[in-house]
Amino acid sequence: MQIRELSFDIFISQEKLQARIQEMGAELSQLFVDKNPLFIIVLNGAFIFAADLIRNYKGNCETLFTRIKTYTGTASGEISEFTGLSKAVNNRDVIFIEDIIDTGKTVYHLQNEIELLHPASVTIVTLLQKNILRPNLVKADIIGFEIPDVFVVGYGLDYKENGRNLPEVWSLKQ
Ligand code: IMP
Ligand code: MG
Repeated sequence: MQIRELSFDIFISQEKLQARIQEMGAELSQLFVDKNPLFIIVLNGAFIFAADLIRNYKGNCETLFTRIKTYTGTASGEISEFTGLSKAVNNRDVIFIEDIIDTGKTVYHLQNEIELLHPASVTIVTLLQKNILRPNLVKADIIGFEIPDVFVVGYGLDYKENGRNLPEVWSLKQ
């Protein structure tokens, strides 16, 4: 599969994604039963994963969206855009939904910002966590799939804004 000048191979099938997301939803449902957690969806990449994950969450919950931008092309960068956390998180059980953790910079930044708003608890959920030799700043509490240090697209993740619509995850051809 081709996006602009890059070629990609299938990496995680639709079936595998959906099966794992059902398990993650069940785990969260157990952990947060009767807690009315606040899901904070980290835009843009997490929108598709979040839509599937929260529909596998059984119980009352609320959602909030935050936008954070760090990636340029296929390389991690500095935080360039950040919006959205409101004071509604005071004393709430917050669950961040991320698409992927690479260097951990994004999640580290989000954790610092959220602590200022005094949540009751903070849980990080990510669909993908890159398993890199250098120590990550942050590891998620709940991880869909640990993957090697490859660039991936699909299922919400983009390459230059393309590929978010793909129902599978694809990895850059080596
Ligand atoms: P981090 O701050 O380095 O952990 O990067 C996290 C953000 O960069 C993620 O939320 C993604 O939006 C983006 N990102 C990281 N790795 C990839 C990738 O392989 N493909 C597409 N986007 C990625
Ligand atoms: Mg992201």
